[in-house]
Parts: sequence; structure tokens; C-alpha cells
Amino acid sequence: MIYAFLNQKGGVGKTTLSVHTAAELTRLGRRVLLIDADPQGSALAWANCRENPAFTVVGMPKATIHKQIPLLAGDYDDIVIDGPPRIAELARSILLASDLVVVPLQPSPLDIWAAAETVDLVREAQVYEPDLKCCLAINRRIVKTAIGRDVRDALKELDVLVLEHDISQRVAFAETLANGSTVGRDDDRKGAKEIERFVEELRRMT
Ligand SMILES: Nc1ncnc2c1ncn2[C@@H]1O[C@H](COP(=O)(O)OP(=O)(O)O)[C@@H](O)[C@H]1O
Ligand SMILES: [Mg+2]
Repeated sequence: MIYAFLNQKGGVGKTTLSVHTAAELTRLGRRVLLIDADPQGSALAWANCRENPAFTVVGMPKATIHKQIPLLAGDYDDIVIDGPPRIAELARSILLASDLVVVPLQPSPLDIWAAAETVDLVREAQVYEPDLKCCLAINRRIVKTAIGRDVRDALKELDVLVLEHDISQRVAFAETLANGSTVGRDDDRKGAKEIERFVEELRRMT
């Protein structure tokens, strides 16, 4: 299964969610490859800080990614792609390579507009790849705020599935990434549970 985390906007959680998804799939016993397709190389930087790497991370910020992936796919059960912001050509190559595109966004109007742009790009790709699936993932939800609830209403107009399981704003997501690790049950039990449910839902979509 090939999952891509894509959004033209930076800072929405593509790297945070792709690294956590790769870690959770690994925990479930899958053979996972994480591809850092962002020229900024945040996921690679994270990988270089790891003490006990549990899965492979490679950098591939190239618009030929869709040609490379079929050569790698046989060695892995799942490939997770951490996408770049902007760079439409690279984003198109990632869309060609993927089975499921996850568009992370934060609950703010600016993020909803940015997500709409990314969804347009996905729709363009779906003309040629009708099997390509897409969903929106709400990240950094601040529990019990009106904006956290209203975002779902606002997203209805995009007419794309919104994952039921949001990811909340949690210091542990930022802190663990900075240390070359990911949120586990020992760091933040609720955070770990959120990731488990999130990945479970992604897997049900495929
Ligand atoms: N759920 C979250 N809770 C707290 N901080 C988060 C969360 N998701 C992302 N962040 C922080 O927000 C910033 C941007 O996230 P990142 O994953 O790098 O986004 P992108 O890859 O889309 O640019 C980072 O500093 C990250 O630690
Ligand atoms: Mg990133």
C-alpha cells in the first residue's frame, strides 16, 4: 500500500503524520519504507537522529518518484511518502505513485483554502487514475474549541472524505520528533492511541 501525505501548504503536519504512520505500520509488523520527497529533508533529518532505526527512510525529492517506486515496492508491504509543499511537478509524480493521498490540515480557514488547492490537484490526477483515493486529516485540533468543531462543517464543501479520527495538538508530537523518536505509549498514552486509531482508519480505506 502506498500512502502519500500531501498539502501545498507547509507546517500542516505532513512530516509529523507520515513519520508516525510509518512507525505505527512498523509496530503492526509491516515492512515499511518512508520516502522523504521534500527537498527540505525533514524526515531524513529525523531519521538521522534515530538511535534504533526500525524502518528505512530514503530521500527522493524527484519528479521521477513514480518510476522509482515500482522498483522498490516488492521489498515492502507499505510505502509512506512525506510530500513537499508547492512544487506541483513533484506532487504530480507522487500522485501517480500513490494508492491513498492523505491531506493533513489544521482547523483554520487558511488551511481549508490550501487543502482545496491540493484536492483540485488530486482530482486532476484521478481523471487518469480513477483508483486513487483521497482523504482529509484534521491535525492539531485543540480539544473543546469551536473552531475544532466548525472545521468539519466548513470542509463539507470540498466533498472529500474527512477521517473520523483527528490528531490533537500535543507537545509530545513535536518533542519526540525532535529526538529522533515517535510518540509511544510511554510518552503520551492518548497521543499514541490517536495514532493507532488514525492508522487503523487509513488501513480500512485501502
Ligand atoms: N499534532 C501536533 N501537535 C503538536 N505539534 C505539531 C502537531 N503536528 C505538527 N506539529 C508541529 O508543527 C510543525 C509543522 O509540522 P510538520 O509535520 O513539519 O508539517 P509539514 O511537514 O506539513 O511542513 C512542527 O514543528 C511540528 O512539530
Ligand atoms: Mg514536512
